[in-house]
Amino acid sequence: MNTSVKAFNILSKQFHEDPYKHFAELRDSHPVYYEKEIDSYFISRYEDVRYVLQNTDIFTTKSLAKRAEPVMRGPVLAQMHGKEHTAKRKIVVKSFIGDALKRLIPLIKENAEVLLAPHLSRGKIDLVNDFGKTFAVYVTMDMLGLDKKDHKLIADWHSGVANFITSIQLSPEERAHSLHCSEQLANYLYPIIEERRKNPKSDLISILCQSEYEGVEMSDTNILALILNILLAATEPADKTLALLIYYLLNNPLQMQDVMENRSLLKQAIAETLRFKPPVQLIPRQLSQDAIVAGKTLSKGTTVFCMIGAANRDPKAFENPDVFNLHRPDLDVKTAFTGIARHVAFGSGIHNCVGAAFAGTEIEVVANIVLDKLKNMKLEDGFNYKENGLYTRGPVSLPLTFTPIKE
Ligand code: HEM
Repeated sequence: MNTSVKAFNILSKQFHEDPYKHFAELRDSHPVYYEKEIDSYFISRYEDVRYVLQNTDIFTTKSLAKRAEPVMRGPVLAQMHGKEHTAKRKIVVKSFIGDALKRLIPLIKENAEVLLAPHLSRGKIDLVNDFGKTFAVYVTMDMLGLDKKDHKLIADWHSGVANFITSIQLSPEERAHSLHCSEQLANYLYPIIEERRKNPKSDLISILCQSEYEGVEMSDTNILALILNILLAATEPADKTLALLIYYLLNNPLQMQDVMENRSLLKQAIAETLRFKPPVQLIPRQLSQDAIVAGKTLSKGTTVFCMIGAANRDPKAFENPDVFNLHRPDLDVKTAFTGIARHVAFGSGIHNCVGAAFAGTEIEVVANIVLDKLKNMKLEDGFNYKENGLYTRGPVSLPLTFTPIKE
């Protein structure tokens, strides 16, 4: 089997501009595509992606030690396995289900309303840069129990750290900047951890400080790594999903009308957005032994990237996969925000997204507010839609016009 595609490489500008144009060719002719420049394989078929993600003994998360630990300053959930992984997932999830979720929903609404307010009388907003990015940081800061007055600092440091984890290649300057941002975040968070150990509240940092693993409280370093883990995992995909949802509803006016007439369809529209344009596009794994994928033998130590966008458009998994259809019968909204979802936007197997159900609620709450407040919403005239990112991917901007609300 030919594994390298002559016409393009995954690191090229051409691929970056529109990866979706190349997914069918990859799935059909190069399902295990080798990218020489980074000595890694890219896996694009739905069945193979699920196989890799569900077999963590063979396809391990070891590569994250190199990719995440230097900036996370300790082990993140995705690197853990066995008893430790199960126990720490349970601890983390406590801060965004049940009573904790009830505490967060009014805060999600308040954040959305506060951030939309200054734009309402103007009748225009860039949903990504005027709203979504800050909104996602605000919600995560509420979950963690951090003071939102520091949101600009946190957002800047967060983006430096995220760049380290989500870049396929980093220059020495970018690497140094990411490490600096990680250090700033640690300096900011360590005193808060110390304070929450003494005066616990109901937020995630307090929950982590009070929790024990094997009868022992977690160290400050381990707590810091989990805080950074949540800060990164929760923030970036959320604002991208919101912008993608609104963009695809605006581009499909009949489906927008269906949602406006029956808001219970919004959850289906969010699930379809995640299938159609997953914001997390690549999931890396490292082989612990030789293994065969799509007939190709890969050796121990090899790095593979699961291509989530390509897998979610595989015609063997979804009918008419390149059509956005919130009514599609093959998505199953009941499981779309759980570990057994049919789409792979939240991964699959034991490392599937621990925040999937929360993300579904968060996006549903904010999207309802956006649809209520921005009446007669349209894409700005002459707007040229563009996406950015290989590892995580979303709209660069989304300028909207709507009927202004008089103050
Ligand atoms: C639409 C929004 C989101 C998307 C598309 C998304 C996507 C993903 C994906 C693809 C993974 C699997 C990574 C892997 O297998 O290596 C993952 C893991 C994870 N996500 Fe999310 N995520 C979202 C929102 C959130 C939120 C809101 C939180 C926290 C509240 C969160 C926390 C996590 C954590 C902690 C993990 C690691 C789980 C583990 O390794 O056991 N995510 N997410």
